[in-house]
Amino acid sequence: MLHGSRVLVIAALLSAGAACDSGRHSSAGFRLPADGDTERGRQAFVKLGCHSCHEVSGLDLPRPTVQPLVPVVLGGEVDKKLSDAYLLTAMINPSYQLAPYPKDQITSGGVSRMPSYSDRLTVRQAIDVVAFLQSRYVVRQTLPAYTYH
Ligand code: HEC
Repeated sequence: MLHGSRVLVIAALLSAGAACDSGRHSSAGFRLPADGDTERGRQAFVKLGCHSCHEVSGLDLPRPTVQPLVPVVLGGEVDKKLSDAYLLTAMINPSYQLAPYPKDQITSGGVSRMPSYSDRLTVRQAIDVVAFLQSRYVVRQTLPAYTYH
């Protein structure tokens, strides 16, 4: 039997979760078209200068040049797939949710060191760059738990 106050906490959490599924800031219904092209995305990534700050895991792009170096490597192993909405938001509203790295290395004056691309990116480029980035992330395989016989 759950203690009364714990039931209340759970109810509050559930309703907070439900609140996120509707309204202006909901990501429900957010879908990029499926025709994102990873090769065009890679080209746009370089053309837009993303590589001047970011390495992309497993790809031999021109090396980052920014000083001090940005520690945020894109792609590689993750526990779960990043959403398209997260990646697009990172490009056009970088300070909204900072990547999980030490703040002193990724911010300057309290905001992300990454410039906003909202005025420099076509929608086509955004779709292709997101497809490109998605193709570089791999979900980490967890080993099955060891069991004694
Ligand atoms: C001047 C350096 C700089 C440039 C240029 C730059 N970024 Fe970033 N980027 C950062 C920094 C610093 C962060 C970490 C802070 C944050 O989350 O905004 C970041 C974070 C990100 C993240 C979130 C990664 C994560 O693991 O959560 C993505 C995605 C990203 N950048 C994509 C891009 C793309 C695509 C471009 C080009 C269109 C680009 N960046 C250009 C500096 C840069």
